[in-house]
Amino acid sequence: MPALEAWPHITRVPRPESPIPHPHSVIISLQKEQCLSAARRPAFDIISHGPDQTRAIGALVGKVVPRGSLLLLSGDIGAGKTTFVQGLARPLQTGDQIQSPTFTIVAEHTGTGIDNKPLRLYHIDLYRLEGVGDLDSVGLDEYLSDPDGLTVIEWPERGRDWLPKEYLLIDLQTVSDSKRNLRMTPYGACYVELIKRFRKEMLGSRG
Ligand SMILES: Nc1ncnc2c1ncn2[C@@H]1O[C@H](COP(=O)(O)OP(=O)(O)OP(=O)(O)O)[C@@H](O)[C@H]1O
Ligand SMILES: [Mg+2]
Repeated sequence: MPALEAWPHITRVPRPESPIPHPHSVIISLQKEQCLSAARRPAFDIISHGPDQTRAIGALVGKVVPRGSLLLLSGDIGAGKTTFVQGLARPLQTGDQIQSPTFTIVAEHTGTGIDNKPLRLYHIDLYRLEGVGDLDSVGLDEYLSDPDGLTVIEWPERGRDWLPKEYLLIDLQTVSDSKRNLRMTPYGACYVELIKRFRKEMLGSRG
């Protein structure tokens, strides 16, 4: 298993934090980030100061993400990936309690998209994946090709050779007990657009 740092898409760029006060205590700081690679992918970091803020960030993504999208959530155990999905599911009105599908690998939740049409949220956790055979049995293609699906994958490193090339990567890093850094990096034009919509939504929510 290659370490996260070995994942070619991710380059760690040390940078100073520049907190921007948030009137509603939802999102504390946003920092436009320099491009990460030769492809000049726009990425930015958001600091969350607690699980509720991470859920709020997830909910903002849930409000703007188009059906058919793929979100990859990387980060160590306890970084907040499932907490993020709990927020993501809120505007989709799944009504289910979202937990890590660590043992079942896939959890399917039925909800309603922001376009008021039915949508299926596929929450996948590849942590316990043993090998390629295992991934085959997950039936990833079926989820990814569902035009009315939204697929979110925790521990995507474990299936990295089998994942599509276009997705939004959200990397969660633990800074302290309650503080997390969420770095969003779009791969593919649709996800660049998604980031733009997310930022617009976020700036709107700041009042
Ligand atoms: N800012 C924060 N954002 C998210 N979770 C936080 C934050 N601060 C503290 N926490 C705590 O960290 C834990 C995150 O757990 P969660 O299950 O979301 O992590 P995970 O990344 O999905 O882990 P795993 O890899 O085991 O699935 C929770 O107990 C949550 O309360
Ligand atoms: Mg989890």
